Amino acid sequence: MKHSLRAAVATGNTALLAGLLLATSCNPSASTEQNSGSSPTMTDSTQTVAAAPGAASFGKTQDGTEVQLYTLSNAHGLKVSITNYGGTITSLLVPDKAGKPGEVVLGFNSVSGYQSPEFLKSGPYFGALIGRYGNRIARGKFTLDGKEYTLAKNNGENTLHGGKKGFDKVVWQAEPGTSAEGQTLKLTYLSKDGEEGYPGNLRVTVVYTLTADDALKIDYSATTDKATPVNLTNHAYFNLSGGKDVLGHEVTIAADRYNVVDAGLIPTGELRPVKGTPFDFTTPHTIGERIAQVPGGYDHNWLLNQTTGLHPAATVYEPTTGRTMEVTTTEPGLQFYTGNFLDGTLKGANNQTYGKHAGFCMETQHFPDSPNQPTFPSTILKPGQTLQSSTVYKFGVRQ
Ligand code: GLA
Repeated sequence: MKHSLRAAVATGNTALLAGLLLATSCNPSASTEQNSGSSPTMTDSTQTVAAAPGAASFGKTQDGTEVQLYTLSNAHGLKVSITNYGGTITSLLVPDKAGKPGEVVLGFNSVSGYQSPEFLKSGPYFGALIGRYGNRIARGKFTLDGKEYTLAKNNGENTLHGGKKGFDKVVWQAEPGTSAEGQTLKLTYLSKDGEEGYPGNLRVTVVYTLTADDALKIDYSATTDKATPVNLTNHAYFNLSGGKDVLGHEVTIAADRYNVVDAGLIPTGELRPVKGTPFDFTTPHTIGERIAQVPGGYDHNWLLNQTTGLHPAATVYEPTTGRTMEVTTTEPGLQFYTGNFLDGTLKGANNQTYGKHAGFCMETQHFPDSPNQPTFPSTILKPGQTLQSSTVYKFGVRQ
């Protein structure tokens, strides 16, 4: 937009200029250049420079730190609210097929909801950034370069989602901004050498972008000064139905195989074909159709068929509201979790009760327990390398 506007002014192409100005004024999120003074038509009323997202207080953490809530919006009525406590997505409003925006994630409207004893006890990680290692590490131990490391255990004998105080429970540095794609929130965190037992000072940056074409994009990057396992993801619970459970959602997952797990949800190493099993989502199936055949419900890692570039992970469609969600990622795996541990003890932002299957998660990531499974894609980040990973949740409607 910036360059074409400049070209139209310079060539005196009035039809093009009028069209561009109209397009700009109809699209409040479009970014145009600052007043160049090059033309009398470039008045302030045509200046619609996309503003950085606004911030509001989200309350104080239990240790007295004031945290903020940043709300990113686009021209189609999508709005995502993210707090720098845990980098947590607390709300995501997406229009339904009638054009009416509604809530599609589970969350609370102040930081106290994320620190309540009930929340911490049940540990659902609503909307949070997960690290240093998303998913499980068996018996909280791994060996790297001949040295054994012992992690904080927080899931029976295993370590889950980073340990006792993972990235979901820390306060991130926040920088709201804009990019060519839309409003952004950049979050950074330094995870110190030894934190939760992991080696190396890990510098993590996560950029959330709400794009003009209705996607929530999450770009992760990290560097370290000692070799360390890293597996970063987001733990948003989606619900496209506007208040019911998610069992009627139609899901596809672009994966022919999944990781077989033991009773503690640690991979046995077997990569089993989904064909002929309730794990086959290569064609659309509702979540509820075969869930009873999966003890406990879905909480498994699928091996995505493609592993390079930004590739398809999953699609979701909710017939009653018409909402669709398309997940693409650079990661090789997808943990599809159907909110099996939600039991109605938590009440959300609008006082709704979060019962079993009130939301589903599509956690794009490397495979569980990779540091102990030499045949899995490596999760080890070494000094001098930069981890880069992206996941896009794109929304739409089907009439
Ligand atoms: C992940 C895990 C689940 C559960 C949830 C949080 O999805 O795989 O077993 O721990 O997080 O409740």
